[in-house]
Amino acid sequence: TGSIEGCPFGGSGEMRSLFGRTNRDWWPDQLQLDILTTEGRSADPMGDDFDYAEAFNALDYKALKQDLTDLMTDSQPWWPADYGHYGPFFIRMAWHAAGTYRTGDGRGGASSGQQRFAPLNSWPDNGNLDKARRLLWPIKQKYGKHISWADLFILTGNVAIESMGGPVFGFGGGRADVYEPETTYWGTEEEWVDEGVETRIIPDEGKALENPLAAIQMGLIYVNPEGPGGNPHDPEGMARDMRETFARMAMNDEETVALTAGGHAFGKCHGAKPSDTFGGAPEGEHLHRMGFGWLTDPEEIEKGHITTSGIEGPWTPNPTQWGNDYFRLLFKYEYELTQSPAGANQWTPIDPEEADMAPDARDPNKKVPTIMTTADMALKRDPEYRKISERFRDDQAALDDAFARAWFKLCHRDMGPKVRYLGPEVPEEDLIWQDPTPAGTEPSGSAVSDFKAKVLDSGLSISELVKAAWASASTYRNSDHRGGANGARVRLAPQKDWAVNDPDELSKVLSKLDELRGELSMADAIVLAGAAAIEKAAKDGGHDVSVDVTTGRGDAGDEHTDAESFEPLEPFADGFRNYLKTKASVKTEDMLIDRAHLLGLSIPEMTALVGGMRALGAVSTHAKHGNSIGVLTDRPGTLSNDFFVNLLEMGTVWEVVDESGDEEFVGKCRIKGDEKWRATRTDLVFGSNSQLRAVAETYAEKGGEERMVRDFVKAWTKVMDADRFDLRCAKYHK
Ligand code: HEM
Repeated sequence: TGSIEGCPFGGSGEMRSLFGRTNRDWWPDQLQLDILTTEGRSADPMGDDFDYAEAFNALDYKALKQDLTDLMTDSQPWWPADYGHYGPFFIRMAWHAAGTYRTGDGRGGASSGQQRFAPLNSWPDNGNLDKARRLLWPIKQKYGKHISWADLFILTGNVAIESMGGPVFGFGGGRADVYEPETTYWGTEEEWVDEGVETRIIPDEGKALENPLAAIQMGLIYVNPEGPGGNPHDPEGMARDMRETFARMAMNDEETVALTAGGHAFGKCHGAKPSDTFGGAPEGEHLHRMGFGWLTDPEEIEKGHITTSGIEGPWTPNPTQWGNDYFRLLFKYEYELTQSPAGANQWTPIDPEEADMAPDARDPNKKVPTIMTTADMALKRDPEYRKISERFRDDQAALDDAFARAWFKLCHRDMGPKVRYLGPEVPEEDLIWQDPTPAGTEPSGSAVSDFKAKVLDSGLSISELVKAAWASASTYRNSDHRGGANGARVRLAPQKDWAVNDPDELSKVLSKLDELRGELSMADAIVLAGAAAIEKAAKDGGHDVSVDVTTGRGDAGDEHTDAESFEPLEPFADGFRNYLKTKASVKTEDMLIDRAHLLGLSIPEMTALVGGMRALGAVSTHAKHGNSIGVLTDRPGTLSNDFFVNLLEMGTVWEVVDESGDEEFVGKCRIKGDEKWRATRTDLVFGSNSQLRAVAETYAEKGGEERMVRDFVKAWTKVMDADRFDLRCAKYHK
């Protein structure tokens, strides 16, 4: 398989499975709870009618914040607070909860409290954060359903910063907990952190990381702090890795510098003893450790022999006070490479003045040298980072503002539109990364029905109208709640130019709709046009259905849109439109499953949509076969179950056309041998995969068409409305 930069899942390795290594691979003895969550049974104890947003709105927010503030300095003997303050520890917890976010597919991030579960609870980079979460348990217990773990992680990070005098921009609640690990592709490695190996850097791709991954290795949130592959002598490589991984989480250079330096204004690294003197990660530990891993020996803990990263020491003389000592020291001193007691590479100032030494974490009367990690050193060694670092060194207010904003973005990037944020501390200011969309208005009188009639009379084909609506809505991702039809960003760069959208055709359709829409927003017009087309196509097939459209969408302009940030939303494969831009390192049919997952679809919903869109002829234009590939019907544009009937027809045999790619197939008459159809992997999988075939059969059999049409319309409407948080969340903002 080729590896193409920018291609999701593109990599230089062998063909791999969709989710890489799973928890069962890492922990073969893990309790098999998943057999209880099959057959539609949920692992969520809160029940279907639990409404977290409502519960959050009834929270005593002020009291919770006060309890968290008190907790910061309420040191517990089973895990004493460094410097008598848990703040830095909690900031690291929150940062690692949020820092798994990646722009590539919007997965990861703070929004579902995944740090509680494997594999994240056991990643080496999350070392000893099991204790941080457990310190919070009494507070979680006290406030119960009114605060989720996911919200609590982030709010605690905020309170930590505030309680040490740091700047905070705001907090939005609303992250509902889940109760089982999400299946996310974290990588294929067989080792958590493999020293000396840069597994994810694709050598022949200008040092790009495998997409959509955002960390240099499995088990790390970002980069190896000691340097690329553990090598401290490669500042360029360090900066390259940082720049790439932070970009994958939507951070530019300034945000990266502000976050790293701002974060390291607080706390310390822990490397008192070699790490092999301690236990394993929580998920594989003994039952009686009760979910704790790594360091659990009370005597060692009491003595302060804590090892987490292996690096040892604080960055500044005042590790529990916000300020500018980090940059002051970074530039004031030359640093030399040293080894921590745990043997990790780190940097220590040469001949520091007494006043620039730090207190010992357990004994304020003892002085210890400060340190920098190789990653910190990159902030002065990389020319671009250095410029920013010098500016922040000389301008505290600029650092305050940049840190507060970048922290807010870090913690809220995966929450989607601002209307999803809850609580008294949601900032007024709209931020461009929130993809702000102006509110729409409700169309009056007969505007909708007039428009639909005009559209059907406009000369635009069923397939063109359906494709435009799908192009608009199907960018939605359940992972970070970005994309979707609201805002009609399909008419803006970059979406209007994506190959999957057949740009020329799309632009023709959009200008026609613009001409006809009258008072309707473009966003509504696009969805209404799709609905009109489907109603007509169903009618032509003998089915009288109405496709309900919830109107009121608004139109975003370029000024509301960070075009670059929309680039990762481009589908490199969209099985619903039978489109494949570049072959990935997973099978093409896996890419369909992935997209269906991001759209929040079930197997029958996905199946009905694929079959329906093929029947409607709503496929992307194929280089060789135009608009016919996978369209297994003689009457494209009519909503029917022809796709399933013809796919499962025993009179047809399928052969591979392109031996090399294994992507295209020809269906021939079993007896005469003449060609009947062309199809892709994404088509044939509904006949070859036993589970998908079982569903496809129900749509192809007698009485199945009726149900297929109904299921198609329902799934279609679900996709069109997937991003309507403006409607769903309005009731929480009375
Ligand atoms: C601690 C590396 C970015 C906040 C640490 C530790 C390492 C590290 C090695 C020591 C962990 C231990 O042994 O206990 C890095 C690297 C980064 C990065 C390589 C990026 C290139 C950030 C960011 C933040 C942050 C963005 C927050 C905005 C913290 C805090 C601690 C810490 C507060 C202290 C924890 C404590 O005192 O227990 N970091 N970090 N770091 N990091 Fe970072």
